[in-house]
Amino acid sequence: MRFFVAPLALAAACISAAGASPAAMTARDVDLGTWLLDSVSTFFPNHVGWETGYDAAFAPTVKATFNQPAYNFFTLKQLYTSINSQITTGFTSFGVNITSVVVVPNAHDLGGLVTLTGVEGGPLPNGTVLTAPDSVFAVVSEIFGRRYITEWRETTDFPL
Ligand SMILES: *[C@@H]1O[C@H](CO)[C@@H](O)[C@H](O)[C@H]1NC(C)=O
Ligand SMILES: *[C@@H]1O[C@H](CO)[C@@H](O)[C@H](O)[C@H]1NC(C)=O
Repeated sequence: MRFFVAPLALAAACISAAGASPAAMTARDVDLGTWLLDSVSTFFPNHVGWETGYDAAFAPTVKATFNQPAYNFFTLKQLYTSINSQITTGFTSFGVNITSVVVVPNAHDLGGLVTLTGVEGGPLPNGTVLTAPDSVFAVVSEIFGRRYITEWRETTDFPL
């Protein structure tokens, strides 16, 4: 079973924000970087209401990959729905600790490029803790005056 955690598993219950501090970013990058980190925490599908965060963050035209498979707005949401079910039943809690944030804002609009890396996972019902490295490269674009994720490339080797 190689499901895995689409958007960095930042989320609600067991999120530890250690390492995700904007302090890791330079001053000009904090705004865009914080926007993406906040967005990830709202749409990671391990808490009730993640769909609302998803709809707000991803552009309808988003191009995404999760390891090799490619997804669009609708199929990525289906993947997240499946992940939500697996996380809820397979782990007693699940989270991610972001360990690096690289932000390159566009010069003339609200968009830019962001790369995040982290470690995600949590305890299984039998107490064994499973964790694995995860990374994502995101392109954020300004559309009608606000930010949307237009590209989302996530890789992980989570051992399930
Ligand atoms: C995140 O960091 C906290 C605090 O060190 C730790 O308890 C937790 O297990 C970590 N989670 C992951 C997924 O590495
Ligand atoms: C818990 O379950 C996992 C997955 O089946 C297994 O790999 C692990 O060895 C188990 N741990 C214990 C303490 O039984």
